[in-house]
Amino acid sequence: MKKRILTVIVNGKRREDAVADNLLLVDYLRETIGLTGTKIGCDGGECGACTVLVDDKPRLACITLAATCDGSTVETIESLAKGGRLSRLQRGFHEKLGSQCGFCTPGMIMASEGLLRRNADPSEGDIRAALAGNICRCTGYVKIVEAVQFAAKEAP
Ligand code: FES
Ligand code: FES
Repeated sequence: MKKRILTVIVNGKRREDAVADNLLLVDYLRETIGLTGTKIGCDGGECGACTVLVDDKPRLACITLAATCDGSTVETIESLAKGGRLSRLQRGFHEKLGSQCGFCTPGMIMASEGLLRRNADPSEGDIRAALAGNICRCTGYVKIVEAVQFAAKEAP
């Protein structure tokens, strides 16, 4: 398989890696870089577990080719805590019990992070719409919505 040089900023650090044309972004993040916080649930664009931010917008990393992110900024769940302090969304999921097994949580949080960057004061409907592509098999979603509402009230 042909390889090309991918130049990308991942979690604030510039990288250059030789990647195969068919390498998926989720495999680049997890296996090439070792950022395993991004999860693979369905591996087919159905569950949202692999959601990351590409240039501030939520993207399903399991159906995104790494090579298409050349010149972009990619952010994963590992980027959110700063100086040992959880981000407001991470605190929200903790405070409101928005996680059970936690498998969907990185994707939920990154999709929510994308929402709060474009809409600082989302309604419940906005939150539910933003998370419509993220599936959780443990919770009833109410706690997840409350977690995002909690975060929206906190300073970034
Ligand atoms: S693992 Fe990407 S959408 Fe399910
Ligand atoms: S907390 Fe288990 S899948 Fe969401």
